[in-house]
Amino acid sequence: MRALLDMGREADGKIIRMNLGPFRPYLVTHPDHLQHILRGNSANYTRDGVFWRPLRRLFGDGIMSDGPSWELSRRTLQPVFTAKHVESLADLMAEAIVEGVDELAGPVASGRPIDVPAAMARIVNRTVMRVFFGDKIDIADAERLAPAFDTVGTSVIFRYLLPSVPESVPVPGDRAFRRAVRTIDEIVTPLVQRHRGRTSEGYDIFSVLCRARDDTGAEPSPAWVRDNLVAMLATATETTAGALTWFWLILEAHPDVAARLVGEITGVVGDERVRHSHLKDLPYTGQVVQELLRLYPVGWLFPRMIVEREALGGVWLERGETVIVSPYVTHRLESFWDRPDEFDPDRFSRQRSQNRHRYAYFPFGGGPHQCIGMHVFMIETRLVIAGILSRYRPVSNGRAIAPPKMGASLRPSRRVELTLRPLSHA
Ligand code: HEM
Repeated sequence: MRALLDMGREADGKIIRMNLGPFRPYLVTHPDHLQHILRGNSANYTRDGVFWRPLRRLFGDGIMSDGPSWELSRRTLQPVFTAKHVESLADLMAEAIVEGVDELAGPVASGRPIDVPAAMARIVNRTVMRVFFGDKIDIADAERLAPAFDTVGTSVIFRYLLPSVPESVPVPGDRAFRRAVRTIDEIVTPLVQRHRGRTSEGYDIFSVLCRARDDTGAEPSPAWVRDNLVAMLATATETTAGALTWFWLILEAHPDVAARLVGEITGVVGDERVRHSHLKDLPYTGQVVQELLRLYPVGWLFPRMIVEREALGGVWLERGETVIVSPYVTHRLESFWDRPDEFDPDRFSRQRSQNRHRYAYFPFGGGPHQCIGMHVFMIETRLVIAGILSRYRPVSNGRAIAPPKMGASLRPSRRVELTLRPLSHA
C-alpha cells in the first residue's frame, strides 16, 4: 500500500503504468480521469479482471457484479436505500444502536478493555439486521457471518498479490476463503429457501429481493437472490464496523479532535438517549466522519477492466487491462489536498468544501455503481459515535494510529482495544 501511494505521489495526477511483472495495470488518480472512468464512460470500465474474479466466488451475479444482472439488482434494491427512506428508518436505527450501547455497560463496569472490531460489529449487526433485514436473520447467525466475511476479506489478498497466477492454481488463503464462503452459504441458503416465493409488502432487503421480477416478468433465480443477499450482508456490516474501528484509533491519536467532538455531543445529546433529530445539531461529528473516510476509506481499492481501447489523459488505455482506482491514494495527494497526511475535520466545513472537485473525494465511489448504502452509513455511524460518547469517555493510552494492512477492505494492522469510563450521569 505504501508503494502504491508512493507511485501515486510521484505520478502527481498523471496516468502511469505499473510494472508488476506480467501484470501491468494503469494507476489513475486524477479526479478528472476518475470521473471519466466511474461516470462519464463507465460502460467501458467493468468490474472484471484480477481483482473482481476471485470475489465472484463469493458475490456471484448480483449487485456486486456488472451488466444486466447488476442492473436488475440495483433497480430492485435502490428503493430501500434512498435518502428519504433511510431517514424514515433513522429512529429505528437509533433504538437498536442505543440497545447495543447499553450492552457495553458490563465490560465498562468491569474496567476491562473492549475488543473494538467485535464490539462495533455487534452494534452494527444488531441495527442492520433489525432495520434492513426485517429481523429475518437471528443474531447468532449474524455473529457467525461476521468472522466469515472477515476471513474472505483477508484471505483474498493472496490473489491480489499474485495476480498472474491462474485461478486453477492454488495460492495461500484459498482454503480459508472457500471455507468461509461455505459457512456463509450454510446460513444464507436455507434463508433463501424459506423466504423465496413468499409475497410480502415490506421494504426490507429480503422482501424486495423476493418480490423482484425481471424484464420478462419472471421471478429471478434462487442463485440471484442468494448473490444479492450475500453482497448486502457483506457490505452492510463489515464496512461500517471497519470505519468505526478506525474512528477509535483516530480519537486516541488526536486528543484535540476528541475534546471538541465530546464537547459537541455532550452539549446536544446531554443525558438523553440519542435519536435522529440530534444529528442535525452535530456538524463537527459529521466532519470527523468525512475526514475519517478521507484518510481511511474502507473501500480503498475498486479497480476496473478496460472493455475497448481509448485515450485518456494523453495515454492509450489498452483493452483487457486493469485500471487501479483507489480513494486511498487520491485522498492523500498534495495536488488535490492541502497537508494531506494531517487529520483535519475542518477541511469539511461548508466553506472549505465549496470548490472541491467531486472526484477528489470519493470514498463511496461514483457513477452508476456509487455506494448504495452511503446514507445508511452516514446516519448509523454518527448515531453510534454520539450514542457512545454521550455516555462514556475513552481512556487514552496516547498511542499513535496503526498503519493499515492489505485486505479487500482497509483494516488496521494491529489489535484495537478501548477502555471506556462511564460519565457521572450514565
Ligand atoms: C464505510 C462505509 C462504506 C464505504 C467506504 C463504502 C464504499 C463503497 C464503494 C467505494 C463502492 C463502489 C464500488 C465500485 O465502484 O466498484 C460501494 C458500493 C456499494 N456499497 Fe458501499 N460503502 C460503505 C458502506 C456501505 C453500506 C453500509 C452498505 C449497505 C447498507 C453498502 C452497500 C454497497 C453496495 C450494495 C454497493 C454496490 C453498488 C452497485 O454496484 O450498484 N456500502 N461502496
